[in-house]
Amino acid sequence: MSTGQMMGRLDGKVIVMSAAAQGIGRATAIAFAKEGARVIATDLNEAKVKELEMYSGIETRKLDVTKKEQIDCLAKDIEKVDVLVNIAGFVHHGTILECEETDWDFTMNVNVRSMYLMIKAFLPKMLAQKSGNIINMSSVASSIKGVANRCVYSTSKAAVIGLTKSVAADFIEQGIRCNCVYPGTVDTPSLRERIHARPNPEQAFKDFLARQKTGRLATAEEVAHLFVYLASDESVYVTGADYIIDGGWSL
Ligand SMILES: NC(=O)c1ccc[n+]([C@@H]2O[C@H](COP(=O)([O-])OP(=O)(O)OC[C@H]3O[C@@H](n4cnc5c(N)ncnc54)[C@H](O)[C@@H]3O)[C@@H](O)[C@H]2O)c1
Repeated sequence: MSTGQMMGRLDGKVIVMSAAAQGIGRATAIAFAKEGARVIATDLNEAKVKELEMYSGIETRKLDVTKKEQIDCLAKDIEKVDVLVNIAGFVHHGTILECEETDWDFTMNVNVRSMYLMIKAFLPKMLAQKSGNIINMSSVASSIKGVANRCVYSTSKAAVIGLTKSVAADFIEQGIRCNCVYPGTVDTPSLRERIHARPNPEQAFKDFLARQKTGRLATAEEVAHLFVYLASDESVYVTGADYIIDGGWSL
């Protein structure tokens, strides 16, 4: 290292992540790269995720996390992985009565089965290295808090918590840690889309805001800071843990 060069909090780490093209994933990929990680940023949206290649340290790949063969192919191509970050998720709006079987299956596939497939594909590499770090995206809309019109979404995000704790418990002695992040409402492109899809978008935005005693929504960058901490060795003694980042919404 040359004199005067700053040490990054993630220097030397290889991080594989899903859903990096926009929102929290994008902000997190950039924050990881700024801290010195080599980031393999993946997303279903190939063109959009490619934009991240302007940042030094980020390489991109198209990956649909519902497709086992694509995940296995990516895992085969990557020799060493220090951190696996599972971010992909989809928000279905509605109660159980508005949730058709296709909605149920789609959400559970994107939000939960994807993490099962990703962890199963990358964990053997981590076990061979005798170290590994997995971070899963949940939400306070889960077993943390009952939220109206988020039936299958909350069910899926509660399942992510169970998956996280189970992986953490099963592999703790082999040097693997696994943690979970629970954001509240984060101002991201998909949140804006969901607001615009409501019959009265202006009111819908006010309703989201009214839930926040902080008077504002979280930014994707604020959530990215938490991912940097969990990906770094600063959190080396943290596993199976729940990180709520919701500006007090679930208080
Ligand atoms: N935004 C919020 O308020 C909020 C709150 C709590 C939790 N979360 C969770 O954070 C995660 C990211 O949300 P966001 O709002 O930042 O992102 P977003 O919804 O704006 O973007 C999601 C990204 O995921 C990608 N994606 C969708 N399906 C995919 C698939 N099958 N394979 C690979 N990539 C796929 C999309 O192309 C997109 O780039 C989700 O799991 C979401 O549930 C978001």
